[in-house]
Amino acid sequence: MVPQISPSILSSDFAALGAECARIPSADWLHVDVMDNHFVPNLTLGLPVVESLLAHVTTPVDCHLMIADPDRWAPAYAEAGAGSVTFHVEAAHAPIRLAREIRAQGARAGMALKPATPVAPYADMLPELDMLLVMTVEPGFGGQKFLDIVVPKIAAARDLIAGSGAEVWLQVDGGVDLDTIGVCAEAGADVFVAGSAVFSAADPDRMIGALRDAAEEAGA
Ligand code: DX5
Ligand code: ZN
Repeated sequence: MVPQISPSILSSDFAALGAECARIPSADWLHVDVMDNHFVPNLTLGLPVVESLLAHVTTPVDCHLMIADPDRWAPAYAEAGAGSVTFHVEAAHAPIRLAREIRAQGARAGMALKPATPVAPYADMLPELDMLLVMTVEPGFGGQKFLDIVVPKIAAARDLIAGSGAEVWLQVDGGVDLDTIGVCAEAGADVFVAGSAVFSAADPDRMIGALRDAAEEAGA
């Protein structure tokens, strides 16, 4: 698969969200970080902002829900029109049921693992998922340093996905930039979230191309 880049709007100017998204037409997805100040110690935005965004953009929206009780809240993001909805397994009460509900609402179902959460216990769940997100920082804030310790888990996840026979995208999120995207692609990631790397670039759309090229080169 051609590597996909999902810029995180967390690093953009929230007061000019529509204009910020218009600066990155070559993004494959718009990564929207929903934080509730319970699951993570930060508060960002919720469904009303996502609904407004969906009305203004044509790029599909990739919602990363860092919230408690996603069983209750996640399906509404799918119903609103997000193309992909990712919940954290650490927060979900019934992850299989939740993944099925997200799919039933017409979105791709994603499941995220914090850096210290192992992937092996979830091997049997892979056929229920469209994407597995391996966090490469502790969730909660943009601009953190990439955690190299997670790289073996990316490779382990890729092996489990291959063994399952399911078509599951493998996303990485946190500290992904031109220096770290290669090692992620080599380990088997194929969807890359990048916040500060994209939005702190002089030309964010060019940076997306550079990241995609670097991933392609390393993953090939
Ligand atoms: C962190 C978020 C990330 C974050 C990535 O909890 O899930 O999506 O915005 O930002 P960078 O690329 O700056 O690490
Ligand atoms: Zn994220």
